[in-house]
Amino acid sequence: MEEYKKLLDHLHKTRGFDFSPSRFASLKRKINKRFADLGFYQTVQYLDYLKSEPNEWKKLIDLLTVHTSSFFRNALTFEVLAKRTLPQILSSQKKEKKTSLRIWSAGCAGGEEPYSVAILINDLVKKEKLNMDIHIFATDINTTILEKAEQAGYAPDQLGNVKLKHLTAYFTRKSDHFLLNSSIKEMVTFSLYDILDATTYVPPESVFGGFDLVLCRNMMIYFSPDRQKKIFDKLYRSINSNGYLVLGEAESVPARYKDCFSRQDNDCHIYGKKA
Ligand SMILES: C[S@@+](CC[C@H](N)C(=O)[O-])C[C@H]1O[C@@H](n2cnc3c(N)ncnc32)[C@H](O)[C@@H]1O
Repeated sequence: MEEYKKLLDHLHKTRGFDFSPSRFASLKRKINKRFADLGFYQTVQYLDYLKSEPNEWKKLIDLLTVHTSSFFRNALTFEVLAKRTLPQILSSQKKEKKTSLRIWSAGCAGGEEPYSVAILINDLVKKEKLNMDIHIFATDINTTILEKAEQAGYAPDQLGNVKLKHLTAYFTRKSDHFLLNSSIKEMVTFSLYDILDATTYVPPESVFGGFDLVLCRNMMIYFSPDRQKKIFDKLYRSINSNGYLVLGEAESVPARYKDCFSRQDNDCHIYGKKA
């Protein structure tokens, strides 16, 4: 039991996993299943294995992170993004004669979130006949999920919120799943990035950050408060003045940042960063 506690402490200290009572049972179940699958019947055997197999840490973390996502998850948020936030961003870019738009989806899971944003931007850019370089950086800590994101094949239940016009315009049906068309896939760059990485402020793939829109949804809730603080500091720095931050439904801007953001809509968690 002492060894098991050490493992949990290690995961908490190094990875910020939140082992508060509401999360503990499910994390413990996943750890137990992993070592049973490997044929171990005692925790101590698994701990020895972890010491001798550095790759196992990566596998364990993949297993402990939750990857649930879907296209246009929380339809209202995406409706506000489509009708207010993105048009506002595009019109201020136009006013300032900027020709590029930079977006970061942090904790992008299988690509559903960045691709949903790409679809909305594609609609707007076409409608307004804008000549704009669009850079959507999508990052996650899980390599397996990133590979899936790049393949961009989705089961029908992940597409429940996709409008028929988008389904027909941007997806091709392949037996039991739908493949996203390359015109949208090409708008998103995926890379491996640990949001807790203390050595960088932004994903290296993006070179300098400077994002007009950052989405970090349904990831922060899995971290302990000290890590949430670190993540929020990083997100704040990465957003341009007058840029926007989108959080998950159960997440909000921490009290000490309240004066730095204004909420765009009372019903969803989209915040404008004040200049
Ligand atoms: C529940 S999913 C949210 C997906 C999407 N943002 C959404 O709201 O639908 C959380 C994602 O965060 C990723 N994640 C967890 N810890 C992370 C970390 N330290 N750095 C980067 N991504 C992480 C997980 O791998 C997972 O894909």
